[in-house]
Amino acid sequence: MPVITCIDDLKRLHRKRTPKMFYDYAESGSYTEQTFRENTSDFAQIRLRQKVAVDMTGRSTRSTMLGEEVAMPVALAPVGLTGMQRADGEIKAARAAAKFGVPFTLSTMSICSIEDVAAHSDAPFWFQIYTLTDDDFNKRILERARAAGCSALVITVDLQLLGQRHKDLKNGLTAPPKFTLPVLADLATKWRWGIEMLGTKRRFFGNIVGHVSGVEDPSRLSSWTAEKFDQALNWDRIQRLMEMWGGKVILKGILDAEDAEMAAKVGADAIVVSNHGGRQLDGALSSIRVLPEIVAAVGERTEVWLDSGIRSGQDVLKALALGAKGVMIGRAYIHGLGAMGEPGVTAALEVIRKELDTSMALCGERRVADLRRENLLVPKGFFEAYE
Ligand code: GLV
Repeated sequence: MPVITCIDDLKRLHRKRTPKMFYDYAESGSYTEQTFRENTSDFAQIRLRQKVAVDMTGRSTRSTMLGEEVAMPVALAPVGLTGMQRADGEIKAARAAAKFGVPFTLSTMSICSIEDVAAHSDAPFWFQIYTLTDDDFNKRILERARAAGCSALVITVDLQLLGQRHKDLKNGLTAPPKFTLPVLADLATKWRWGIEMLGTKRRFFGNIVGHVSGVEDPSRLSSWTAEKFDQALNWDRIQRLMEMWGGKVILKGILDAEDAEMAAKVGADAIVVSNHGGRQLDGALSSIRVLPEIVAAVGERTEVWLDSGIRSGQDVLKALALGAKGVMIGRAYIHGLGAMGEPGVTAALEVIRKELDTSMALCGERRVADLRRENLLVPKGFFEAYE
């Protein structure tokens, strides 16, 4: 087993071992990828304040998210096509998360179905939906999620249409892949992926195929979003989806304090400050830059979490110190999965927990709940740079 020291180690292996179209799907932003790049470069501008001679014994990264006990406040974000990064990918990620003690979120655009993940993992997981026009589909999928014991619903509010990712178009992204010559040439070097994939029946969008009609090519994410996503979405409609579910709801994809106000008003139990990993509105600000304003606006009324740009425990510390109660990671665990399957997801979580724990200690903190703005050094004007 290779020595894994950081998420970048897993990323390199992910790239080496996974077909190009799926690695690229994960590692892309929309259009010029400005927001995708700034999600990480903005984190890098923030520094940590070292404190010495502080008792650092008895530390813990434990916390709660939505009242659920977590080993650290880091949940696995919903990621489409996870079961294409590695055979049975969603099941592997859900099991790794359950063993580690962090929440796993299953995407509607998963390869393994809700029922399949529930049957192969012990812990309840969260389920993510998009905002679709088709209420019959919405009702049925929510019923399926309830029957599978999902403990919260994540509603993605920033994807009424799909931001264009150039690489997906150039690669002809589909699930399963269509065997064109370039795809076959690429697969010749990804034998491990191919062998595992031949050994599973889970190669289609498990929540969609057989459950939805009238989509021109159900193997394409872009046809599904173009044909079924609700471009007329408004807050009443979001509220209706929340009522249809009737349980805990996380609204994911908030980047603006006014939108956060609306989310709190409709009763979201948590919101995720997110630009969808830089995959939707290219040119939007990084999540970390807008976090404090949103925490100030609604942090007393709803749990504020952050995603987009987290690649280390130091990043987690920065988000928590700026008022987030938790974070979600997408690419960081997908790199682990693509690199080494279930043990790779565990490795990603271990890397992040160790980095968080060590950085907390060297900042003189013993509990995540104690992290605060004073633990950071932020460039002057960083949060006021844009208006
Ligand atoms: C889907 O949500 C995607 O970002 O591809």
